[in-house]
Amino acid sequence: MIFETVISGGCRSYVVGCEGSCAAALIDPELSQIDRYLALAARDGLRIRYIVDTHTHADHFSAAQQLKRQLQVPVVMHRASPAPYVDLRLQSGEMLIVGNLRLQALHTPGHTRDSMCLKVEDRVFTGDTLLIGGTGRTDLPTGDAAALFESLFDRVLKLDPALKVFPAHEYKGRSHSTIGEELAQNPRLQQRERGAFIEMMHNLNLTMPTHITEALRTNMTGGKTVSQMLAEAAASVPFMSLGELQMCLESGREDLIVLDVRERDAYEEGHIAGAQLLPRGQLELRVNQELTDPTRRILVYCEFGRVSTLATATLRQMGFQQAVALDGGMKAWREAGLAVTAGKAP
Ligand SMILES: [Fe+2]
Repeated sequence: MIFETVISGGCRSYVVGCEGSCAAALIDPELSQIDRYLALAARDGLRIRYIVDTHTHADHFSAAQQLKRQLQVPVVMHRASPAPYVDLRLQSGEMLIVGNLRLQALHTPGHTRDSMCLKVEDRVFTGDTLLIGGTGRTDLPTGDAAALFESLFDRVLKLDPALKVFPAHEYKGRSHSTIGEELAQNPRLQQRERGAFIEMMHNLNLTMPTHITEALRTNMTGGKTVSQMLAEAAASVPFMSLGELQMCLESGREDLIVLDVRERDAYEEGHIAGAQLLPRGQLELRVNQELTDPTRRILVYCEFGRVSTLATATLRQMGFQQAVALDGGMKAWREAGLAVTAGKAP
């Protein structure tokens, strides 16, 4: 077996490959690590055949949907997953064949209704059902402490004690443990009476994950995150630095339209001299009146550099092939001590 662990903050993803056939499965991929997974698979001579999410993640962004598009391979989850982009929905006991490897799914609801563990050879990928020295929480949507108790004590912990445990989260840098070690040492598993276990889980008082709303929205629907929207826009436009813009303005040689896409009050409070006002919210509807020459070079800026990136991508889509976004925004411009003009738009 070829095996790689990818660590991204507290998240763990795994590449599991068959040496004989070079086929691999990617387990719990995270959006920010896509290039790393592909680079590791290439370095190891592996071709990713399946993308598996052990459950609907509430605390980070799954890369499943994007990798599916990029690699044209199926996304695998448990049958209870609500995500519409899942291609292969496993039931408990069913297996994926990856070259000579057999990955067997074990339905283990509790952390979420769609949680599953995957057993392959000498190891088990426990998702957020069983962590090293902990368990997944049960207070997020579809969590159920009673179901977790049964999943753990009736299923996972009845597996071979020698099986290595590879969880979806690990915060202390340990690579793995074993079922036997968890049974003996995991503090949460010392509570083996059902009622007491449930009460313990209900009284953990954990704080909510930082991006829970966005993670659930995107992981459950296959929709895009805000940073994906921004990254896609940024990849489709060129940028100009503050210094370059200042030089263009000072030289007066460049026939440049400077477009301020903030709201009117922000513009009136202070803008770059000569800038034209066209708020982002009105861009598409007013573009024909405001920007009549699609061959002109247009420098777009906003307050922080994000809205202007989206606006520049929109302008390019509409045919303004010389639209360019400011790298930074009015905030950076002011902080650099560059000239600001106040007053109404002409
Ligand atoms: Fe989770």
